[in-house]
Amino acid sequence: MWTVRLIYFLVVLGVGNARARKSPPAAFLNPPSEAVDYVDPLIGNGGDSPNGSGGMIPSTAPPFGMTRWVAQTRQNYVSVTPYNYTDTKIHGFQGTHQPAIWMGESGQAVIIPGIGDVKVKFEDRGLRFSHDDEVITPSYYSVNLDTEDSRQILVEKSATSRVGHLRITFPTSAATDPWIALEASRASVMGSADPTNVTYPHGTISISPSTQEICGSNAERQDFIIGPNPAPSFAGYFCARFSAPLVGWGTASNADGTLSPNVTSAGGRQLSGYARFAQGTTQVDVRVGVSFISVDQARRNIEAEVPDGQTLEETARATRAAWAEKLDLVQAEGGDDETKTVFYTGIFHTLQYPYEQSEDGHYYSGYDDQVHEGESYTGYSIWDTYRAEWAWLIFLAPERINGMIQSMLNDYTEGGWLPMWKNIVETNIMVATHADSLIAEAVLKGFDGFDVDLAWEAVHKDATVPPENDWTTLYYDREENVGYEVRAGLSSVYETKGWVANDVHSESASRTLDYSYDDFAVSVLASQLGRPNSTFFHNRALASPFTIFNAGTGFMEARNASGAWAGPDEGWTEGDMWAYTFDVVHDVPGLVAAKGGNASFVAFLDEHFDGGHNDHTNEPSHHIPYLYSLAGAASKTQSRVREIAQSNYNSSVNGLSGNEDCGQMSAWYIFSALGFYPVNPVSGTYVVGSPFFDKITFSLPGAAAPLQIVATGASTGKPYVCSLTVNGEPRTTPIITHADIRAGGELLFGMAAELCTWASSTLDTVSSTPGLVLQS
Ligand SMILES: *[C@@H]1O[C@H](CO)[C@@H](O)[C@H](O)[C@H]1NC(C)=O
Ligand SMILES: *[C@@H]1O[C@H](CO)[C@@H](O)[C@H](O)[C@H]1NC(C)=O
Ligand SMILES: *[C@@H]1O[C@H](CO)[C@@H](O)[C@H](O)[C@H]1NC(C)=O
Ligand SMILES: *[C@@H]1O[C@H](CO)[C@@H](O)[C@H](O)[C@H]1NC(C)=O
Ligand SMILES: *[C@@H]1O[C@H](CO)[C@@H](O)[C@H](O)[C@H]1NC(C)=O
Ligand SMILES: *[C@@H]1O[C@H](CO)[C@@H](O)[C@H](O)[C@H]1NC(C)=O
Ligand SMILES: *[C@@H]1O[C@H](CO)[C@@H](O)[C@H](O)[C@H]1NC(C)=O
Ligand SMILES: *[C@@H]1O[C@H](CO)[C@@H](O)[C@H](O)[C@H]1NC(C)=O
Repeated sequence: MWTVRLIYFLVVLGVGNARARKSPPAAFLNPPSEAVDYVDPLIGNGGDSPNGSGGMIPSTAPPFGMTRWVAQTRQNYVSVTPYNYTDTKIHGFQGTHQPAIWMGESGQAVIIPGIGDVKVKFEDRGLRFSHDDEVITPSYYSVNLDTEDSRQILVEKSATSRVGHLRITFPTSAATDPWIALEASRASVMGSADPTNVTYPHGTISISPSTQEICGSNAERQDFIIGPNPAPSFAGYFCARFSAPLVGWGTASNADGTLSPNVTSAGGRQLSGYARFAQGTTQVDVRVGVSFISVDQARRNIEAEVPDGQTLEETARATRAAWAEKLDLVQAEGGDDETKTVFYTGIFHTLQYPYEQSEDGHYYSGYDDQVHEGESYTGYSIWDTYRAEWAWLIFLAPERINGMIQSMLNDYTEGGWLPMWKNIVETNIMVATHADSLIAEAVLKGFDGFDVDLAWEAVHKDATVPPENDWTTLYYDREENVGYEVRAGLSSVYETKGWVANDVHSESASRTLDYSYDDFAVSVLASQLGRPNSTFFHNRALASPFTIFNAGTGFMEARNASGAWAGPDEGWTEGDMWAYTFDVVHDVPGLVAAKGGNASFVAFLDEHFDGGHNDHTNEPSHHIPYLYSLAGAASKTQSRVREIAQSNYNSSVNGLSGNEDCGQMSAWYIFSALGFYPVNPVSGTYVVGSPFFDKITFSLPGAAAPLQIVATGASTGKPYVCSLTVNGEPRTTPIITHADIRAGGELLFGMAAELCTWASSTLDTVSSTPGLVLQS
């Protein structure tokens, strides 16, 4: 394996847009895993605006880890990540819970190392570093910090789900006065939109020289102003345990840098604590237990995950093993290093959210502000992730699906509703109740290890009970002082007329289409569970979308309660009339019919793409290239998918064209690379595209045999599919069922350099030249 790794790192040096990457010391490279070595956690950190790239950070944590540890180059807020590739100084190492670029931080802790005078003020504590020096992997990170007198502090870190493990190597020269500080609270702002609006969350510090610990809490929760859950007693708790004796200590103000020596306990705003170590101390190992429950629980988390005596190497190897256990399930052959880097990094991204919120069988709930027994996850960006990320988790992490659903049901029990965008609490961000889809898809795909009756009750409530003040609250994005948004507009006038009224609600046309899809999911769940309501929701799901189809323009269009058309630019969220007119994934035949049949639907798709209307940087466009296949133009899906993959993903820091959105951007890429995509997630089917690799062996957890996806030539100039055989059986339609693949087996694609007629009968009838110029 060493040879393979060596070749890989050398090869990457030569690729145009990839950076030179430093390999970790050999002790951190166990177990060997080529798949993990392909992961580049810097991908998606760049971009010249918050939505210019992925909004990802080069953080260290195991899959679904509760806390991610990252070098902090700037203060992170809503729309500002804690690490920005353009920055030149590191101001500490943060245990972050900010799950996506648009979400607020909550209860974070920061470890700040230094020598000489203790400096905790953000502006003063930054130390220069060079990207050339950074070693960045999913399980281990290191960097050299340049001190003001040109000495260097080496910081290495790894992490388990609830413990950050750092090792600080101080300079060996005399009179270093080494110290480490822990920031408990800071001045916070709501977001970059208004940096002058400052809040001062409460923090606590307690220093225990005898146990060599600094513990504390941080009540910061930047999303406090939105959503219905005040969560008044929320705090992040932490306990940093040092391997070296403390020879001095105190608290410090990060407002003005003032130190309060010998003070061991304090509470308040902009508060840090610090520990000094003896002259000549060269290395300090720090384990930071993190909890949402208590300081004691943070300590127990240390004992459970990184007990006394465990070395950084051991922690990093265990975390690497956790990544390898997942990434090694997917072995891609053929394809260059660039493609593999994007692919495996994508898988790394998809396994970060939702993240664990329970600790030792207990969790703090932001919905009722209590600690409960059970399992909990947070970081649910469901408007994004219901599309393909959830289907991907069902494949790759089935052992967590029941727990992730039970967690949503706990939210329902404690707060009254299933989550929409849970970031510790409900944030009401984006629209619709796509938890319905998550549950229906899981049940359809065989999961039942949660309270199924409660799941039906919760989903049925989504579909039948409007939010408070449904006629008087707009429920615009991030509206403050409102209740649970859920299906705003259900009573005005979706239930009676089939559309959400644009003069009563924000984002009305998007809501109409999204609610109709959710109704379809509800009907699927009802039929899976043998409930009597399936037909009702099925019918509503099929009728509603077309109540806003304006046959005069050929586009979906928002309507007022009266029925008057509201205008083509009204009522959309994160998309426009082009993207949303294609947003009837549960009734593509109905949509095709509305557009005048397959040939004119394909022409409409061409107009959409060739006119520059497809915006892959945002989710409403993700399924659109796959619609060609459903209209008898599979070869066009193949060329569009290849083109989109090429122009929206690469291995550079800017390598994601849009926000990762808790894994959905990468899930699109991964499914596309496999050669199929879940256009309608609750259909139990996938639409065939164009596989990127010559062969993928996917050891599906729990399957009797691995899934072999064979597409010889796919990576070397043969993007077109001429035939498909599923477990020996030839297929003429571009559809694969979940049953086809769940047990393992073989998907055999016949690939070609030129367009094929396979599943492309509609193209015979259209005059436009099919296909794009490919750059494969
Ligand atoms: C990184 O920082 C630069 C310079 O401040 C800024 O323009 C850019 O928007 C930031 N990137 C992200 C993804 O926020
Ligand atoms: C980036 O996001 C902001 C805030 O949502 C939005 O106003 C802006 O139009 C977006 N820019 C692009 C290029 O998508
Ligand atoms: C600061 O932001 C909060 C939350 O959005 C808002 O309620 C408050 O009015 C703002 N204060 C100022 C001075 O703008
Ligand atoms: C802190 O305690 C040490 C040891 O007792 C003492 O030498 C020192 O003077 C104290 N510092 C302050 C500022 O009180
Ligand atoms: C739709 O309702 C809005 C708000 O009441 C109103 O301003 C607008 O004129 C209405 N549009 C039509 C076409 O009736
Ligand atoms: C669901 O089915 C039950 C039992 O038939 C019925 O009472 C109820 O009205 C139905 N609800 C909806 C929304 O269809
Ligand atoms: C459109 O094409 C699809 C896929 O080939 C086919 O199943 C469907 O019957 C066609 N629809 C019409 C109306 O011809
Ligand atoms: C990588 O992808 C980003 C996002 O699509 C794009 O802006 C950038 O130009 C690409 N870089 C290279 C070298 O292809």
